[in-house]
Amino acid sequence: MKDDIKEILFNAEEIDAKVTEIANKLNDCYKGQEVVMVGVLKGCLPFYIDLARKVNFPVRFDFICASSYGSGTESSGNLKISKDLSAPIENKNVLIIEDILDSGNTLSKLYDNFSKRNPKSLRMCCFLDKPSRRVSEINVDFIGFSIPDEFVVGYGLDYAERFRELPYIGILKPEIYQNN
Ligand code: PRP
Repeated sequence: MKDDIKEILFNAEEIDAKVTEIANKLNDCYKGQEVVMVGVLKGCLPFYIDLARKVNFPVRFDFICASSYGSGTESSGNLKISKDLSAPIENKNVLIIEDILDSGNTLSKLYDNFSKRNPKSLRMCCFLDKPSRRVSEINVDFIGFSIPDEFVVGYGLDYAERFRELPYIGILKPEIYQNN
C-alpha cells in the first residue's frame, strides 16, 4: 500500500504532537465542562478517538453521518444526513470533529443545522484544512494543519474507501486516482 503513496506529509509522531496541541487548547477552552464530541463519520474516527483520549474534561460521544451535495454555491449546497445524533444537544456544549475542511460546505451546513437545536455552545475542530478549496465562508475554532491542494489519504482519509487505516497522512500518487 505504501507504493501508492507519493510522499508522507505527516508521520505518526507529528500527528500525535499536533493532536496533543489541539487537546491542550480544548482544555483551556472548556475548563472541566462536559462536552458532547460529535464526530462526522467516517473520516473523523482516528482523530476523534486520539483527541478524546487526550482531553481532560468529561466527554460524551456522539456521531453523525452527513455530507453536502449540490453545485457547491452557498445557496445550493444541501446537507444529507444518513445517520443523525443519538441524543438532543439542547443546552449542551457541542464540539464538531472533522478530519478535513475542503469546500467548507459540510461543516457550514452542519453548523447551521446544529445551531437550530439550541446548544449551550457550538464549536468546530478540524484536523486538516485545505484553504485554497474554500467555497463556503466558515470560521473553524480549532485547526490542526493547513495543507496544499493535494489528494491526501490516511489517518481516516480515504480514496474510494481505501487507505483510512494508515497511521500517517500521505499524498496519493496521481496514477492511483487518474487510472480509475
Ligand atoms: C469528507 C470530510 C468532510 C468533507 C469535507 O467527507 O470528512 O466531511 O468531506 O469536504 P467539504 O469541506 O468540501 O464539505 P466525505 O463525504 O468524503 O465522507 P467520509 O468522512 O466518510 O470520508
